[in-house]
Amino acid sequence: MTHAEDAPYRIEAATIPERYGRGWHCLGLAADYTAEPQMLNYFGTRLVAYRGEDGQVRVMDAFCPHMGGNLAKGKVCGNSIVCPFHAWSWGPDGRCDHIPYATRIPAKALIKSWPTLEENHLLFVWNDPENGAPIPEQRPPREEHCFSEDWSDWHVEKMTIHTNARELVDNMADWAHFPTVHGAACTRFRNIVEGHNYTQEFWGHSERLAEGSELFSRAIYHGPAYMLTYQSGKFGGVDMEVRLLVSHVPIDTESFDLRFGVLVRKDPGLNDEQNAAVVAGYAEANRFAFFQDVEIWHTKCRVDNPLLCDGDGPIHKLRQWYAQFYVDRAEVPASIAERKVYERTPKA
Ligand code: FES
Ligand SMILES: [Fe+2]
Repeated sequence: MTHAEDAPYRIEAATIPERYGRGWHCLGLAADYTAEPQMLNYFGTRLVAYRGEDGQVRVMDAFCPHMGGNLAKGKVCGNSIVCPFHAWSWGPDGRCDHIPYATRIPAKALIKSWPTLEENHLLFVWNDPENGAPIPEQRPPREEHCFSEDWSDWHVEKMTIHTNARELVDNMADWAHFPTVHGAACTRFRNIVEGHNYTQEFWGHSERLAEGSELFSRAIYHGPAYMLTYQSGKFGGVDMEVRLLVSHVPIDTESFDLRFGVLVRKDPGLNDEQNAAVVAGYAEANRFAFFQDVEIWHTKCRVDNPLLCDGDGPIHKLRQWYAQFYVDRAEVPASIAERKVYERTPKA
């Protein structure tokens, strides 16, 4: 006779529904968006981004409802974008504002215009499956370091990663992978959940990111996809203070673009060129750390019911927090707003 505990554990993984998180998603450096339309392959569709005459960046659905022309191949005219196929012009609110050969614009001529904002020299787009307006509390906060003379400019890199974004977000609670995957010893670990924010605090040591000295990092997710980290440690023999950007935008349910950025407090003993070299070196060290995760993701399977032990981080709590962005606003439990702290002191 077999006892239940003799049965092998069954990993469960439901099919991933095609729904993307409600929230602000970072599209990289705002300065990279100009009057030249850019095609974005995100949220399971194609979008176009362009900067209008008034200086505002617009993001709209790229496929023209007339006969399917791709607006990313069109031209910006004032604040509107003109389709390359039959020259229908679409205004910043998504309404068709001109058809060169028609006397009347069809009443249904409206495409989706996605809310955007610029903050911390970054461009953001708002995704909401219910098409609601951005939630004011979820606005990405201004970070003074991004505007300070004492800090470098952003060094931002983009990489496409072939897995579902939940794998990336799981990292926030998963302290136990730091020693095995990243060679970083963790001495204290804390997660704080509050509304749309999820914070990870990590104290430990990393040869790569702190040269054996104490490494401290505080990473905060502002919504489902935009994370900023404050880190202090040692690099190239000098004490460093660093801000890291880790943001992602889903391409579809099986892939996302990760944007990874570094900002460092300039060392007054170094000239601009030397400081830039430190930023690039630090970005490289972090890129290396990412690829350690990516290697795991590319061969692991999805697990909805992870078999956890008492030493693990609060993976289920993190996933409950993350789930709020994937249900309608009316279904978000009120308890999400309460502040909760989870602390682990890993055994030596
Ligand atoms: S398809 Fe865009 S104007 Fe005809
Ligand atoms: Fe990791």
